[in-house]
Amino acid sequence: MADSVDLGKCFEIINNLTTEAGRLIARNNETRQEFVCKSGDIDLVTQTDQDVEKLIMNGIRQHFPDHKFIGEEESSTGNGVNKLTDAPTWIIDPVDGTMNFVHAFPHSCISVGLKVNKVTEIGIIYNPMLEQRFTARRGQGAYYNGRRIQASGQREIGKALVVSEFGTTRDEQKLQLVNENFAKMARKVHGLRALGSAALNMAMVALGAADVNYEFGIHAWDVCAGDLIVREAGGVVIDPAGGEFDIMSRRVLAAATPELAQDIAKELTQYYPQPRDD
Ligand code: IPD
Repeated sequence: MADSVDLGKCFEIINNLTTEAGRLIARNNETRQEFVCKSGDIDLVTQTDQDVEKLIMNGIRQHFPDHKFIGEEESSTGNGVNKLTDAPTWIIDPVDGTMNFVHAFPHSCISVGLKVNKVTEIGIIYNPMLEQRFTARRGQGAYYNGRRIQASGQREIGKALVVSEFGTTRDEQKLQLVNENFAKMARKVHGLRALGSAALNMAMVALGAADVNYEFGIHAWDVCAGDLIVREAGGVVIDPAGGEFDIMSRRVLAAATPELAQDIAKELTQYYPQPRDD
């Protein structure tokens, strides 16, 4: 089916739509934003998240009426997460890093991946406040504002800069897990950062700025684009226990090299978030 999808046109359209939606996000990021809570008191949504998701979905529908969607905000209402099929499916996080956005902290992004036959063909992560655009098409490399990028090549855990997150839940068991892993990492790695956007964390691995990103509790829309961008930059994306990455598992580990990914996997206390995205 990939042959019957005009991926060049898809790429052009999503680039343009993210630019348009980015203007809205950047304008609204100038002041702190009103929000409502979703699954808990630190899982937030704003009017902008909803407006951006609609803008992107409607824009895509105009050109590709048969395409399917898995959108963060649509998934949190009604029927839950749409099932991933072989049909061309856009996986969308309209504002990844909503907590940052609510606080006018200029580190959030639009993250969009396109899957055809369940294979990711296109990934875009765009922070419109800082004009950072990360893009990839399968087999064609990864780019930062049009410049080809490469993961760092770091193999040594002791020299690795690691990014991870506290996540969007105050569940006691999850928080203990996060803190346990942060403590383990702090003893082993070069540096540890939590910047508040799962998608931008992956983009930093692709850029060669960070060497590792892991997180338990992410969703498909947080990591779909980042998975492709990291792999196209020569990095690896695996399950945090060391096996194959499963986009619906709510678990991710991205790293500059396979050696580093496996070393980090051995260190991590594992956590299997429920429910999965499928
Ligand atoms: C969240 C952010 C956060 C990460 C969560 C994500 P959202 O996405 O990326 O940093 O820890 O796992 O769900 O809710 O801001 O789109």
